[in-house]
Amino acid sequence: MNFSDAPIDSASAARLHAEGLRLDLVDTADTAAFSAWIRAESRGFYDDEPSEKRLAYMLEHAAYRRTTGVWDESDAVGAEPVATVSTWETPLSLPGGSSIPVWAISAVTVAPTHRRRGIARNLLESELRTAHACGVPIAALTASEATIYGRFGFAPSAFASDVTIDTRRARWAGPAASGRVRFTTREELHHSARAVFESARRRHAGEIEADDALWAETCATDERSADKVKSLRAVRYDDASGALQGFAIYRVTGGEDDFTVHTVEVQSLVAATDDAANGLWRFLLELDLVTAVKAYLRPVDDSVAWQLSDRRAVQSRPYDHLWLRVLDPVAALEARTYSAPIDLVLDVADPNGFAEGRMLLSVDESGAGTVTRLDADADVPADAAHLALSVNSLAALYLGATPASTLVRAGTVLERRPGSAERADAAFRAAEAPLLSIWF
Ligand SMILES: CC(C)(COP(=O)(O)OP(=O)(O)OC[C@H]1O[C@@H](n2cnc3c(N)ncnc32)[C@H](O)[C@@H]1OP(=O)(O)O)[C@@H](O)C(=O)NCCC(=O)NCCS
Repeated sequence: MNFSDAPIDSASAARLHAEGLRLDLVDTADTAAFSAWIRAESRGFYDDEPSEKRLAYMLEHAAYRRTTGVWDESDAVGAEPVATVSTWETPLSLPGGSSIPVWAISAVTVAPTHRRRGIARNLLESELRTAHACGVPIAALTASEATIYGRFGFAPSAFASDVTIDTRRARWAGPAASGRVRFTTREELHHSARAVFESARRRHAGEIEADDALWAETCATDERSADKVKSLRAVRYDDASGALQGFAIYRVTGGEDDFTVHTVEVQSLVAATDDAANGLWRFLLELDLVTAVKAYLRPVDDSVAWQLSDRRAVQSRPYDHLWLRVLDPVAALEARTYSAPIDLVLDVADPNGFAEGRMLLSVDESGAGTVTRLDADADVPADAAHLALSVNSLAALYLGATPASTLVRAGTVLERRPGSAERADAAFRAAEAPLLSIWF
């Protein structure tokens, strides 16, 4: 069963029906119905009313997603939905360079007129059951608030950081780049930089593929309001052989009171190589009449702090960004590679049942893992590490962003054998901090 043609979940539909609400899929080929859904989603996120151009863009590029709404039966036929959710299947990059299909969940909104009546719960639970029925091992989302999704088994699995660099204090002290930076247009990047984005995203665990709609968002070519994009500038980085290896999209703000005091806001800095990152960072940090560079969605272990004459010129604000929910722990744990061999028994508690149970993860010298389901009371092999944890903690550990020992100290993972967390830390560690560099 494919994500786009899976039927609507009958349990959530019945529960909402009892409240006078209808849960249904939107036929995205029906322009009026899909436009009403897009308007409801924009309103839910306090966005501008979508322009005709924006609607046309979404109608073309987001139509393939599974588009679900909730309607109030007492509203007129054709009214906007009172709740929205959008889902699709996409690869997630994993430690070791492999990837796994995930059920991306986006556009979760409930109209202010219908909040706190259980609509979001029914939408989320229906998506998780549908993803599980489709055999997709993990659900993934980015969250507007950190308080919403833990109750559904999600946990932060990759972090991102917003950084501000005081360019009056810091001079570039990193290597000279081999290539050159050139001005370009967002449209040209949209046309030619997708492969660079794709190779950049594979450098980190935690990134999802940019579909057409997300790619346009990254290049700011998605027909959002002209006001939001008119100040954006685009540069590309070509290596010594002239090949495109990265790009940045930024705007320069401020300067009203003092023309020597501007701020650069970097919306995207995408680099397929370290050399491209060096070239783009240096260009941004050395812009004249600028005193601060702000960059969003950067890795928490960004090397740029080590490339400045004064590392205290960098202020970072890390936050939870990618939230995962494990639905099939066997497929999930077997998909990634590990940094050290281990035999690890995991007792996973999952109130929704999807990932519940005892399992043995055996990682060989090459870093490949196999998982065997065990009976709940099966003996734990004598030399195995042994942890007990919730499905949330499993998601927190999964990409290596948070060590098991941190969660043992936090009391959310239980070490059933002494030393188990340290062994798990060595196995789950990712070479670079996992990162998701876009919102979805
Ligand atoms: C977040 C939102 C979707 C919740 O919708 P809702 O239908 O009111 O949520 P529900 O009534 O189904 O609540 C489900 C549970 O989540 C909790 N909850 C809902 N919104 C919450 C919030 N913003 N913060 C903390 N808890 C929240 C409820 O208390 C309830 O808890 P319980 O079932 O464990 O008692 C809705 O408030 C909204 O549209 N917000 C603005 C857009 C947004 O932020 N969307 C999320 C995008 S990631």
